[in-house]
Amino acid sequence: MGNSIKKTKTIFEWNESLSVGVAVLDDDHKMFFEMAEQLNEIVLSKSSEPYVTDSIIIMLEEYIEVHFCREEDALLKTDRECYEEHKRLHDAFRRRFRQIVKSYQTGDLTALQQSPILVANWINDHIKKVDLQYKQIILNKNIDNRPLGVLVGIQENG
Ligand SMILES: [Fe+2]
Repeated sequence: MGNSIKKTKTIFEWNESLSVGVAVLDDDHKMFFEMAEQLNEIVLSKSSEPYVTDSIIIMLEEYIEVHFCREEDALLKTDRECYEEHKRLHDAFRRRFRQIVKSYQTGDLTALQQSPILVANWINDHIKKVDLQYKQIILNKNIDNRPLGVLVGIQENG
């Protein structure tokens, strides 16, 4: 990626108004904005090696999956009704992102070019309208607080 990466942010950044009151979940959310930003820089630079794009897409997909599971597990323990509805919304985005990855893998670059903004917009909107509702429900003690990278490994190994 080197020096060609612009330092100015091109899409949303996390801010305090998006805090759900659990540091680990806030960190996950910050990471999504970061990854969307990275992907956007790659898309805009048009000069990245395919493997760089492949890596960030795969990482983003894994992070989406594991972060969603982290929230869903916590909701399952605390508020079953919230869990059902929240999972439905997560599943819709899982399908949507899977579709983007599929399109990219079959050579359709349009889906990829639109994905950073789509991801950032979706997360921003989802946190504000949905995640913030669990602010008083999910507490630190309900959370599997291991780093996402560790949880990705655990999921992959069954
Ligand atoms: Fe969520």
